[in-house]
Amino acid sequence: MKTAIFKVEEWMNEYEKYSLFDLGNTTVQNLSLDELFEIANENKQNYLNNICSQKLGYGYIKGYPKLKEGISKLYKTLSQDDIIPTIGAAGANHLVFYSLVEPTDRVISVIPTYQQLYSIPQSFGADVQYLHLTQENKFLPDINELKELVTSNTKLICLNNPNNPTGSLIPEKKLLEIIEIAKSVNAYILSDEVYRGLNQTDEYTLSVADLYEKGISVCSMSKVFSLAGLRLGWIASKNKDVIESCIHHREYNMISCSIIDECIAALALQNADKIIKRNKKIIRECLSILDDWVQTQKHFSYIKPQAGTTALIYYDFDMTSKELCDKLAKGKGVFLTPGFCFETEHCFRVGYCKNPEELKNGLQKIREFIQESNLE
Ligand SMILES: Cc1ncc(COP(=O)(O)O)c(C=O)c1O
Repeated sequence: MKTAIFKVEEWMNEYEKYSLFDLGNTTVQNLSLDELFEIANENKQNYLNNICSQKLGYGYIKGYPKLKEGISKLYKTLSQDDIIPTIGAAGANHLVFYSLVEPTDRVISVIPTYQQLYSIPQSFGADVQYLHLTQENKFLPDINELKELVTSNTKLICLNNPNNPTGSLIPEKKLLEIIEIAKSVNAYILSDEVYRGLNQTDEYTLSVADLYEKGISVCSMSKVFSLAGLRLGWIASKNKDVIESCIHHREYNMISCSIIDECIAALALQNADKIIKRNKKIIRECLSILDDWVQTQKHFSYIKPQAGTTALIYYDFDMTSKELCDKLAKGKGVFLTPGFCFETEHCFRVGYCKNPEELKNGLQKIREFIQESNLE
C-alpha cells in the first residue's frame, strides 16, 4: 500500500527557500559542534583526533554502550538493554510500526500530530482511528472518546507528548487513565516524546516507558538537545517483545547507526543537564515574546503551549491556511506551517524557539501583512 504525502515535510521543502524569518522549523536554536564542545568543556582537537583514528566499521550493532547509558538516564526505570538507537525519531516511529502493525489491527492516533503517527500505520493497512485534540479540550485527549475507540484488536494507541503542533502536555493523571484504557484491551502505547523535558514549568514529565510495561517511548537528539543534524533517535521500552521485534526488523533497513553520530550524541548526553537548561531558557523567553504578541492581536488567538517548541495560532478571517502561509512566505519572507498540514483549518503552526530578534521581526511582518491586506 502507498504511503500518503507527508504534508508538513513537503510544505517545508517547498517553502523554506522563502524564509527570511524562520518560524517554520521546530528545533531550539541548533547547536554547532564548536558550541557543543564549549558546553561540554571538551578539547576540540583531542576529541576530533580520537574520532579520526577510529576505524569506520559498523560499530556496535545494537548501539554504542555509552550512548545507551546516556539515554537510559533520561528515564527512571530503564536500563541500556531497553534502548534501541535509530535514525532520528522519524526512524524510530517507522520501525515501531514496521515491527508491530498488521493489517488486522486497529491503531488509534491523536490528531493533530506528526503525520507519521497515522499515515504509516494506514500504509500498513491498519484500521486507523483518530483521537481528536481540540481547542475546547485544550488539545488533551478526551478519555470518553478513547474508551469508545478501543476494541479488542487495538494494537497501538499513539500519543505525542508534548504535542506538535499545539504544545499541549498530558497531565500525569490523564496519562494514567489512558494507560488503564490501553491495559483493558492489552494495547501498546507509542508515545512520541521528542519534546519531553522542554516544559514551561519545572515539573518532571514522566515517560510512558516508565509508567507502563507496554509503553514505548520514541525520542531523539533533534529537539531537546538541538542536534537534529546527527539524525540520531531511539526507541525505549521495558517490553522485551517490542525490543526483540524492533531489533529483528531493524536488520532489514539500517543494521546500525553511524558510529560518529553515536559518539557525538553520547558526549551531548553526558552534558544533558546543561543543554536542557539552555533550551528551557530559550523556549521560555521565546514563548513570552509570542504570548505578548498574541495578546495584542485582534485577529489571532491560541491555547498557550505548556511545553515543546510550537504553537497553533488561529485566525478569524476568511482565508485558507495554505493561502495565508503562501502569501506570508512569498510576500513577507515569513516561513510558517499551515494548519492543513495537520488536517485542520484557519490556523498555522509557529515554531517559536528561535533567535528572539528573528521571532519578533517575523511576528511584526505578520502584523504588517494584516494591515496591508485590509484585514484590520
Ligand atoms: C513529533 C515529532 N516526531 C518526530 C519528529 C522527527 O524527529 P527526528 O528529527 O528526530 O527524526 C519530529 C520532527 O519535527 C516531530 O515533531
